[in-house]
Amino acid sequence: MSVTVAIANPKGGVGKSLTTMMLADGLALSYEARVLVLDADPQAGITKALLGIDAEQQLQERKIGLAAMLEAFASGRSMRMESHRVVAGDLIELRDRQAGFIDILPSNHELLKEMAEFEHVARRKKRKDRLDVLLSDALRSELSKIEQHYDAVLIDCPAGPGVLGLAAMRLAPHILTPTSLETNAYSTLTDFLKFILADDLNLASQVKVHPLITQYQATNTLQREMLNHIKQGLHQLNAISRPVPYTSALQNAATHPGLGVYRSARDKYGSALPEVLALTKAVVERLSGQG
Ligand SMILES: Nc1ncnc2c1ncn2[C@@H]1O[C@H](COP(=O)(O)OP(=O)(O)O)[C@@H](O)[C@H]1O
Ligand SMILES: [Mg+2]
Repeated sequence: MSVTVAIANPKGGVGKSLTTMMLADGLALSYEARVLVLDADPQAGITKALLGIDAEQQLQERKIGLAAMLEAFASGRSMRMESHRVVAGDLIELRDRQAGFIDILPSNHELLKEMAEFEHVARRKKRKDRLDVLLSDALRSELSKIEQHYDAVLIDCPAGPGVLGLAAMRLAPHILTPTSLETNAYSTLTDFLKFILADDLNLASQVKVHPLITQYQATNTLQREMLNHIKQGLHQLNAISRPVPYTSALQNAATHPGLGVYRSARDKYGSALPEVLALTKAVVERLSGQG
């Protein structure tokens, strides 16, 4: 059985894509998990991080990825999710796919255009269903055909409040919500949680939300104070206990070395490798109801 996790927060730049990458690598390395990453963001952060910028462009030209799937869907054809998967990752340890591995369903900026087209077509047909429900139903049915090949499906969601983000979130029983402890990001998160838990979305009964503090700087007094408040349960945030620190090693790890170049986990993450493993463990414990 595979577990599906959406990595979502309507605020951009909070570490969604970096968290997705750390988890994909961590799950494949530590748990020998077979991981499918679904890039649902037109900015394609996780596609670039796992495949590199050149590959992102080549795949766009070859019409592989979520944008091309949506194009098919909007024109009434089958999405054929299984044929849009690409072998991903840049870790030597995972290269032979013997134990854990990572596949990705890539994205590119064409996704913006295809979403607009999908919404346009649906409106012309006067579809009364909510578009996010329509889209997530179609994606779920596609996912159900391939998920038996995976232990974990990670969905990197787009920023913003749009149809695509909602559809992506609806696919997952678990929503992992990276947030930086900066007043703005924090209030966006609490608004987001209220929205998710609001009845009109009908998501509340179906999903569990797991806030994750990212880009944490212990030298920042304000952040330290906020983290203490959260740990004391003041905001009922129920965040994953271990924050992801802001480090240059993690920033560097997100830069893909280029097509066909592999590196060891130690080379990729440097001094931040223990953070990757600790985050993965904390998330696995949380998902299995222990953390
Ligand atoms: N813990 C961290 N340490 C260092 N850099 C980080 C960290 N988290 C995110 N970043 C950097 O911040 C930027 C935004 O992160 P990203 O994961 O792309 O956010 P999002 O996907 O939410 O837009 C990227 O350049 C990323 O590498
Ligand atoms: Mg991103």
